[in-house]
Amino acid sequence: MQQRSCAACRMILLLLVSHIAMSVAAPAVQCDLSKVAITGGNYTVSEDGNKVEYRCPKGKYPFPAATRECQLNGQWTNQKQKAVCKDVECPKPRIQNGEYIPQENKYFVGDVLNFQCWGGFTLMGSENRTCLENGKWSGKTSICDDQEGYCPDPGIPSGATKVGSIYRIDDRVIYECMSGLKMFGSKERICQENKKWSGTEPSCRQWYTYDTPQEVAKEFGSSISETIESSDPDRVDVIDIRSVKIKTGGLMNIFIILDASKSVGPKNFNTAKNIAETFIEKVSSFDFTPRYSVLTYASKTKTIITLSDEENVEPEEVIRKIKDFSYKEHEDKQGTNTRLALHEVYQQLSLFQLRNKDVFLNTSNVILLMTDGKHNMGGDPVVEVKRIKEFLDIKKDNNREDNLDIYVFGLGDEVSLEELNDIASKKDSQKHVFKMESIDDLKKAFDDIIDETDAFEMCGISKYHSNEVQEKYPWIAKVIITRPEQVENCKGSIITKNFILTAAHCFHIDDPAHYVTVQMGGLSRKVKDIYRHPKYAPDSKKNKNVPKSFDFDLALVELDRKIDFSTTVRPLCLPCTSGTSWALKLRDKAVSCRDHETLLLSSELVKAMFISEERKDDFIQMDVLIKQGQKRLNCLEDAKKVKDFENVADIRDAVTDNFLCTGGIDPVVDPQTCKGDSGGPLIIQHNKRYIQVGVISWGTVVSCQGFKRKTPVPSASRDFHAEIVHSMDWIEKVVKNELIYLK
Ligand SMILES: *[C@@H]1O[C@H](CO)[C@@H](O)[C@H](O)[C@H]1NC(C)=O
Ligand SMILES: *[C@@H]1O[C@H](CO)[C@@H](O)[C@H](O)[C@H]1NC(C)=O
Ligand SMILES: *[C@@H]1O[C@H](CO)[C@@H](O)[C@H](O)[C@H]1NC(C)=O
Repeated sequence: MQQRSCAACRMILLLLVSHIAMSVAAPAVQCDLSKVAITGGNYTVSEDGNKVEYRCPKGKYPFPAATRECQLNGQWTNQKQKAVCKDVECPKPRIQNGEYIPQENKYFVGDVLNFQCWGGFTLMGSENRTCLENGKWSGKTSICDDQEGYCPDPGIPSGATKVGSIYRIDDRVIYECMSGLKMFGSKERICQENKKWSGTEPSCRQWYTYDTPQEVAKEFGSSISETIESSDPDRVDVIDIRSVKIKTGGLMNIFIILDASKSVGPKNFNTAKNIAETFIEKVSSFDFTPRYSVLTYASKTKTIITLSDEENVEPEEVIRKIKDFSYKEHEDKQGTNTRLALHEVYQQLSLFQLRNKDVFLNTSNVILLMTDGKHNMGGDPVVEVKRIKEFLDIKKDNNREDNLDIYVFGLGDEVSLEELNDIASKKDSQKHVFKMESIDDLKKAFDDIIDETDAFEMCGISKYHSNEVQEKYPWIAKVIITRPEQVENCKGSIITKNFILTAAHCFHIDDPAHYVTVQMGGLSRKVKDIYRHPKYAPDSKKNKNVPKSFDFDLALVELDRKIDFSTTVRPLCLPCTSGTSWALKLRDKAVSCRDHETLLLSSELVKAMFISEERKDDFIQMDVLIKQGQKRLNCLEDAKKVKDFENVADIRDAVTDNFLCTGGIDPVVDPQTCKGDSGGPLIIQHNKRYIQVGVISWGTVVSCQGFKRKTPVPSASRDFHAEIVHSMDWIEKVVKNELIYLK
């Protein structure tokens, strides 16, 4: 598995940008308030009586516009048109090589569409989509793909048209939004060598479409967690030695830029400060400490803490400084000089580069930009974005895109969607631009991000560069059964704070819980209960001449008290759980258990690993290939050679479909499992995350002596692992709400 180029050193630039402060002189005339009433809704009038803001109930939007302003001629804008709350519409979808029903001219909130593909085409994305209150369709763009292209069919987002239907390398597709709709995302996408489309899927939005706090929490939360998780804490230590200046946070910098222009107002500014503090607290709950820079701007820019400030690695210190900063410190609040704020980022980066030449290019940057308006002075902010990109040496084809993420949050009705979209990064399957109704919604989103990641506890993480085996394989548990007559050793995997997954055959049917001890990452726990899979029944196949059946060889061990996760004790990911969706970067609501299975286990040879104890307490990784489809048939052949099975008529009675097979010598020699490995996890590594797909159960050849594996591996040596995906319903029943399950 390849590592992302220097994921360790990320620099997060968090920009909380602002608002447009319209400095229009107040007209002397007053407009007639009796002319502004809205049918089906409400309005508020600004203090000076010159601006009206409309509010409509959920599922409706104010027509002809969200606001009216009093003009010099004494007339409201659009005064001739009576204001009315209209029903929110969802843009009409398009689909090639398929159809959807029902066909209508317009779609309103609650309408459901059902998509189907012509023969030979597979439906990707959502089968059914519902029109939501904010004018978006639920789920993902529905696409009918014949899977003949080099890149997958990129589809047509609802409300868009697409030009280009050939998907070879370097082919491009160009999107337009239908009239009245505004585009977020990439207008043009190119099929790249890595089989992905450049840029990000466009979406065509009504002006009144807002992202909900839940959507933002999910989409921004997943993207930012990924950035943070994939940074490698160990690398930091290396840098430490070289340069005393760069302490723990040396490789990641977070810039927070708060909008302080007039339109924001003291209350919203405080909420923005609050969001920044929440964010910093959240980030510091991850396993590393970045470097922060915080600035605010209106016509000018003010810095609260800069990249060169020594204290910027102390979250408490940064939060204290933010708390101490007052909105009043911006004496001139008239302007919204977005470009100047970005220029300040650029300058701080320049200084950082001078002082840290050795690590500068290995540092990634994430910019979050929150704005409730568009720039009204200082020039086009996009110019500054280009400059930052050039300075970070980010080009189309040099794979340095990971070094910069710019997130943009637009708040309220005054924003320019085009400007937000032009500033934001555009990356495959990640959203970087959001439009929200208010800063309070953004606050809700940030609060949720914390709740979500806390709940997931981020499974399947490891400090794989560590010299400490317990940090390298923090999810491995030793399960020790001490019977009066003998001690039995098994392995297991930590899946929650209270449960270890292992093999049922490790236990005798009458082993009481107090025989069992679990050791992991320097901790030891007694056991409260042992749960065997209800279908595990060693004697059940005797009538088929299988002396001992290992079908459903799964057990869950409940610890007597919960463990606290640390760098040496962490959960492994299980398929069909929400945590694994995060790990696999599949965070859409529509993701199913099946999607996990397809992504993890769809080829005939799947790279996997198990962790073996070669010497006492010294674990090492053993790489194996899971054999499936045609390749699995040889596993069955080798199983037939097992003496115990010589009278078995159909080997599939012994080796049911509930086993994953590894071992053998084709196409490469797989190391074999030994007795003490039983119960341990069979793991697939995806990017830098570890996902368990099986539990080590039994093998055709027993040739280990103690911890020693015999070489050469006998060619008929096969190992069978109890498959987990199809037993998740049982795990769910036992573990209950310690995990979040997919359907
Ligand atoms: C920066 O990254 C490059 C490429 O990944 C690597 O070769 C180099 O050693 C890294 N430098 C530092 C100082 O980490
Ligand atoms: C209009 O205002 C009243 C009173 O402030 C409130 O009770 C009602 O819910 C509002 N209606 C809408 C559609 O916002
Ligand atoms: C989609 O809707 C149809 C018809 O209501 C239903 O039969 C089908 O199960 C739905 N599919 C999904 C994936 O929800």
